[in-house]
Amino acid sequence: MEWWQEGVLYQIYPRSFRDTNGDGVGDLRGIIEGLDHLEWLGVDGVWVNPIHPSPNDDWGYDVSAYKDVHPELGTMEDFEELIDDAARRGIRILLDLVPNHTSSAHPWFVDALSGRDAKHRDWYVWSDPKPDGSPPNNWLSMFGGSAWEFDEPSGQYYLHNFLDSQADLDWWNEEVREAIDDVLRFWFDKGVAGFRIDVANSVIKDRDLRDNPPTTDDDHLEIQRIGQRPMYSMNRPEVHEILRRWRKVAREADPPRMLVGETYVLDLGVLASYYGTGDELDLAFNFPMFFTALDGEAMKTTVEQTFDHLSEDSWPVWTGSNHDGLRFPSRWCDGDERKIRIALMMLLTLRGTPFLYYGDEIGMTNVDITREQLKDPVGIRFFPENPGRDPGRTPMQWSADDGAGFTKPDVSPWLPLGDHRSVNVADQRSDGGSILNFTRDLIHLRRRSEDLRSGEQSSIASPTGTFVYRRGVSTVVVLNMTDAPNSFDVDGEVLVTSTGRALEAGPLELDPFEGAIVTQS
Ligand code: GLC
Repeated sequence: MEWWQEGVLYQIYPRSFRDTNGDGVGDLRGIIEGLDHLEWLGVDGVWVNPIHPSPNDDWGYDVSAYKDVHPELGTMEDFEELIDDAARRGIRILLDLVPNHTSSAHPWFVDALSGRDAKHRDWYVWSDPKPDGSPPNNWLSMFGGSAWEFDEPSGQYYLHNFLDSQADLDWWNEEVREAIDDVLRFWFDKGVAGFRIDVANSVIKDRDLRDNPPTTDDDHLEIQRIGQRPMYSMNRPEVHEILRRWRKVAREADPPRMLVGETYVLDLGVLASYYGTGDELDLAFNFPMFFTALDGEAMKTTVEQTFDHLSEDSWPVWTGSNHDGLRFPSRWCDGDERKIRIALMMLLTLRGTPFLYYGDEIGMTNVDITREQLKDPVGIRFFPENPGRDPGRTPMQWSADDGAGFTKPDVSPWLPLGDHRSVNVADQRSDGGSILNFTRDLIHLRRRSEDLRSGEQSSIASPTGTFVYRRGVSTVVVLNMTDAPNSFDVDGEVLVTSTGRALEAGPLELDPFEGAIVTQS
């Protein structure tokens, strides 16, 4: 087993983790300060969202220099210290690679704009207008509107699947491929353990730029929301060759590094394809599971289908919150602490790698954001129908103090604080029965249990709305995801319950929204 299969990973949105210089924005030194907490929690690896120089039109996902650190977040020395300090505690650091597009302020794109003969012109996707002057095809940006922006001086359009200041690189161009290989190697040399790859499944586009078809009622709601089926602008078959190429670079490093992809597809068969035959991504984020309701039947179905689709040597990954899709304590649980605990128990006991998002461990919920407070371009464009992603990106709630222990008491943070007076790390740490201590107990139980780290998983028949599975030889996880008590025909010794109640198995009587882990001899 690899470290990232047995371990628990943790995602940090660096602007919101901890601010050490009092500018209201989290920084790398803040992550260093947070390592005590992560070590205590039992985390094995951390994925940090982009840390590179960026105009911040999309908060770091518009990179203007791939081999540098954003001055607002710190320096290269800070980053090196982070890698070393984390390594001493057995924690690995993963960075975020954004290969689909660069910022329009990136020197490559600035050069590309200088004219049709520019050295970097064909590093991006350019196309002539249609005879009537309109964009080359009907592709829509994920952030709304056409995916094409007209460049007056050169008389051509360039492609941007996201903001017009995020110009898509042309992955048919070998020079682009080499340039990104070089970025991977640069950070591997610095000691990063791997990358989360942004838009991993969609960097290469249809060579003929064919029109996307309309959506139908059969499409997943998330696709219907985009307004067209991104058949030619995403998920092209040629991406597999690129994933294999990255995998090779990652495995050639000494020691070998890992790659986890943002594989935003809603079809598990397609998701499985991004693992290749053990020669593409090590892990592919499971969005179908992310979008499944916290309901016994629904989760059981998605989880079983995931196992069915993934080949023997493809390792699943489970996550409930991230910086785009908001926080599971709200999405899945409506802030109900019983459900939050059930969800944590599920995430940390399914066969596969769990990714927690900063704040999940204390049950942090989404935070209401006013129009004036918005920072996310998606929210700014679509508020109030869609408040965007800021509600799930607010500062980590370290304490009940003014500033939440995130920043100095008199500083106003870049995004508003949530309910830090009642939900925070400091208070939960001193409360043995808190969500935080429960999460830590689960992580440590997982560490000690070979069944939970690597055992096979199979479902056990159980009452409607509940989800019960065996892990390995002797561990059974029983999740009553209903609002009624339920009795389970499971015997053995109850190791932990989500409520902290001491219980006996055989039969096991669980309260509404209560879960238990049982070991059988
Ligand atoms: C990915 C990122 C998201 C970003 C987008 C464009 O989906 O997770 O935050 O806005 O790519 O880079």
